[in-house]
Amino acid sequence: MALRLSRLRALRAWVPVSMNVRLLMTNVTIQPLIEHANAIPNIAAWFYEEWREIYGEETRASVQQRIETWLTRNQIPTALAAVVEGQVIGTVALKESELQFPYSPWLAGLFVIPPLRRKGVGALLVSAAECEAASLGIKRLYLYTPNSLAFYESLGWLLVERCQLPSGSVAVMSKRLQPNHAIHSIRA
Ligand SMILES: CC(C)(COP(=O)(O)OP(=O)(O)OC[C@H]1O[C@@H](n2cnc3c(N)ncnc32)[C@H](O)[C@@H]1OP(=O)(O)O)[C@@H](O)C(=O)NCCC(=O)NCCS
Repeated sequence: MALRLSRLRALRAWVPVSMNVRLLMTNVTIQPLIEHANAIPNIAAWFYEEWREIYGEETRASVQQRIETWLTRNQIPTALAAVVEGQVIGTVALKESELQFPYSPWLAGLFVIPPLRRKGVGALLVSAAECEAASLGIKRLYLYTPNSLAFYESLGWLLVERCQLPSGSVAVMSKRLQPNHAIHSIRA
């Protein structure tokens, strides 16, 4: 597997910790989303379809505008892309705030295209985002999820609280990051 983060400090932090590694997707790389700005309209369409109920009155255009604010390096907000043969197949973002929640900062926008799910890409994106956050000096990350609690628990995230949003119930979760946080869970 060619696992690549473009930033040197992230590369330094990359230490595979799991010996139970299964590799099926041999050419996935994790790259800053800013290197794939042309994929933003597609990504906005994926997000809009996936989270339409949470977005409420938001339009696809406004979702796209928000994703465009993630096209940064070395700061929050930012986003990473999982890339196969030059094509973005998944995303994850780091954001300062989410809805009305009092916590900060957040892991958000985790998405893997349906044909490539259950191959380890989602776990890899989460781990890469944790690594990125740790390299920015962040000690604790938060996220909220309507229905992926078990997925995040399997990656070491803990339930903070359950909240009722207009779109339904969500779980707010958090994870404490180590300064030398390492990407792991390379499997597929
Ligand atoms: C959630 C999501 C990102 C997971 O991506 P993925 O690439 O399929 O995840 P992985 O292959 O890394 O899964 C790792 C493990 O998490 C668990 N897991 C993953 N998806 C799961 C699901 N839908 N239900 C239950 N467990 C799941 C499994 O234990 C899996 O390991 P296994 O396949 O050996 O059983 C993907 O399903 C997705 O994009 N969903 C739509 C958007 C979404 O729900 N985003 C996150 C919540 S806000």
